[in-house]
Amino acid sequence: MTPNRWSDLSRPPLNQTALRRALLHEGTPLHEGDVLWTHLEVLESVNSTHTELVSRTRAGEARPGTVLVAEEQTAGRGRLDRAWSAPARSGLFFSVLLRPAAAAERWGWIPLLAGVAAAGALARTAGVDTGLKWPNDILATGADEERKIGGILAERVDDEHVVLGMGVNVTLREEELPVPTAGSLALAGAQGTDRDPILRAVLRAFEDWYGRWTAADGDPTACGVLEAYAAGCVTLGRSVRAMLPGGEELLGEAVAVDGDGRLVIASEQGVQRPVAAGDIVHLRPATGK
Ligand code: BTN
Repeated sequence: MTPNRWSDLSRPPLNQTALRRALLHEGTPLHEGDVLWTHLEVLESVNSTHTELVSRTRAGEARPGTVLVAEEQTAGRGRLDRAWSAPARSGLFFSVLLRPAAAAERWGWIPLLAGVAAAGALARTAGVDTGLKWPNDILATGADEERKIGGILAERVDDEHVVLGMGVNVTLREEELPVPTAGSLALAGAQGTDRDPILRAVLRAFEDWYGRWTAADGDPTACGVLEAYAAGCVTLGRSVRAMLPGGEELLGEAVAVDGDGRLVIASEQGVQRPVAAGDIVHLRPATGK
């Protein structure tokens, strides 16, 4: 039998029609920010939803609120020019196009609020404990281990648009993990691995947080996202070693996330230094790994 999209019954395809029905809004928004998702497409295979959506945006071929989902990516991209690879239909791979109303200096909060939204939605729908590793890693936090199950990539396309991409490992098996520190919802003991409800929950949670953040003009304190991020961030309170470009290393305790979304690292001498996600090449525990 020729393999088709139904061949692997443990990894059924996404239901584009049902996702559209559940998520897309027609008509006029009551308030700016109320209506986020305007178009949703599930592609069978694409190099990267991120690359594709950035290029459609540059060509004027994508509306804000577009959600581009892929069943398979052949050249998925991670942060810091890393690759993101996963077997077809083993996870959620999607990018969304945003035209934020908040001032551009607040846009750094978009990937962080996406993390808050996703971690909460995954915990609720899959019944798995989740946490956030600053800045953009989504972790499954089991009894005695933390594994990365998702990642977020944000790119400012021009003065008006941001493309936000997210990858979540749903049914990846141990032997399929890209690195031993990775994980998946299934490996974390998820109560459900049906990707349709999980995607719906993540996109609705994002819509909700993004709406609150927009209504607060991007102020992370006023909309509560800073507090929610800090509450879910496993990095805080830990000793970290931040590798900065040019070989500089910063060693200390991660004590806070500031209003610009930067991680504040306090050295042993008590000097506090905020570091931005874009300035860190690696963030590691100060001891081990
Ligand atoms: C990271 O952890 O480094 C971020 C990973 C982001 C992966 C997602 S998968 C969907 C979208 N398309 C991509 O090529 N990358 C993002």
